[in-house]
Amino acid sequence: MLNGTTPPRLFAIISLSMIIVMVIVTGLTQALFFRQSIIDRESVMVMDMANALALEHLVSVSNMENYAGIEATDRFEQGFGPLMQLSGTQQIRVFNRNFTIVWANDPALVGTKRTSHMNDLTRAMQGEVRAVFDSEQNSLDVSAQRPATPESIEIYAPIYQAKTGTASPEVMGVLSLSRSPLELNNTIRKGRYLLWMVIGIGGALLFAALYKLFVLVYSRQKIAELQFTKLTTEHNQIVQLEKLSAMGEIVSEIAHQINNPLVGVINLSQVAERDPEISAKTRRLLTAIQKSGIECSDFVQRLLRLNQAARSEPQSVHLNDLVRDTITFFHQTIGKNHTVTFTESDDNVTITVDPVLIRHALFNFIHNAILAAPDKPVAIAFVSEKHEGVSGYLLSVTDMGGGFSEEVAKRLFKPFFTTRLGGTGLGLAVAQLIAMKHGGVARAENLSGRGARFSIWLPSVVNS
Ligand SMILES: Nc1ncnc2c1ncn2[C@@H]1O[C@H](COP(=O)(O)OP(=O)(O)O)[C@@H](O)[C@H]1O
Ligand SMILES: [Mg+2]
Repeated sequence: MLNGTTPPRLFAIISLSMIIVMVIVTGLTQALFFRQSIIDRESVMVMDMANALALEHLVSVSNMENYAGIEATDRFEQGFGPLMQLSGTQQIRVFNRNFTIVWANDPALVGTKRTSHMNDLTRAMQGEVRAVFDSEQNSLDVSAQRPATPESIEIYAPIYQAKTGTASPEVMGVLSLSRSPLELNNTIRKGRYLLWMVIGIGGALLFAALYKLFVLVYSRQKIAELQFTKLTTEHNQIVQLEKLSAMGEIVSEIAHQINNPLVGVINLSQVAERDPEISAKTRRLLTAIQKSGIECSDFVQRLLRLNQAARSEPQSVHLNDLVRDTITFFHQTIGKNHTVTFTESDDNVTITVDPVLIRHALFNFIHNAILAAPDKPVAIAFVSEKHEGVSGYLLSVTDMGGGFSEEVAKRLFKPFFTTRLGGTGLGLAVAQLIAMKHGGVARAENLSGRGARFSIWLPSVVNS
């Protein structure tokens, strides 16, 4: 499924999924703690306020015990009454150490011991601040039997005695404050939005940084790989060049050795042919020997040319002139009937090459093109083109023949590979050798049934 995916995209998918999971998990746990910490903060605030007020209005342990007295009632009223002003406050009850309500905003409760959260009240008596969502009034319970009362949060805050000396103050009672959690919920909701936003942005930044890092590392690796491939290709080219050069030396040595006796065979058969005393049959045989000898000699001559390609004498030439000369030479040697068109370049480019060799390579291409489609025109063109970032010129020969198969394509430039009867299989190998000698490359393109294009690319500055 992921076959067509590039490594950066794959990395993006995987890392993004992981980061999303991470963000969600972090968000959920943080949201939980966040809610708790907001509630805790609110509770502590209530406790601090209650204690400050109790201290200011001199609420004492004896007031807590004799809560019915007028003085106690006054102090409670002044000490805890203002807390009713806290937004959303529904009910306030103050318990003494006997768990009796000593003051409440609803006077009817004074003297009673009512609380549904005995455990929380007890813990508050021991100095803990507690906050509970009232389960009896839970807003989640929307059943028809129970009237939908607003959810409330009840805070149990210890109230301490005024500090005397260095001893840590003792709890003298507990304030229970029941509030509508609407505002609190709003704060929590807003806080959660903020929390999710921060975690989300954090995740996005993390992803962006990771992705950028990956792309950087990946592209560096790609560049290294490319450089390695380039080096390998260059190395292979040098090996090929050396092979071709060595082969050229051997082949021309053999050709030289064969050439002299071959010339002897042709000459001697010509001499023998002129002898009036030989029979007609012998004459025919001599003619056949001569013909084969000449064919063999032609082949040897072509082999000899291979070695010429190994040596080069570069000089500055105009590419337009070079191509025109080659066409003229082709017409003189192969025949005038073949149409070879050439689209000259406007700016007559000068290039430093061995003109004999480049002409030879071009000649081989034109010859092959004519052999591929004898009655069709052959088009030569040259354009400036970059190859692996190096500027240069592409000289191409396009024919309208049958092209070549994929199998043939793999072996085209191999020395002695031919599909033609009487072919040497050296034309393209030599053309490639010549291109390489000039720091260039030879290429073959199949024009899918519409012919073939063979080209030679040469760098504009040749270091040969
Ligand atoms: N223009 C072309 N169209 C199709 N095939 C070609 C063309 N030029 C070369 N080839 C193929 O490449 C082979 C090798 O060509 P080359 O090296 O010039 O040797 P040769 O011409 O002696 O066969 C040819 O035998 C032929 O199969
Ligand atoms: Mg050929």
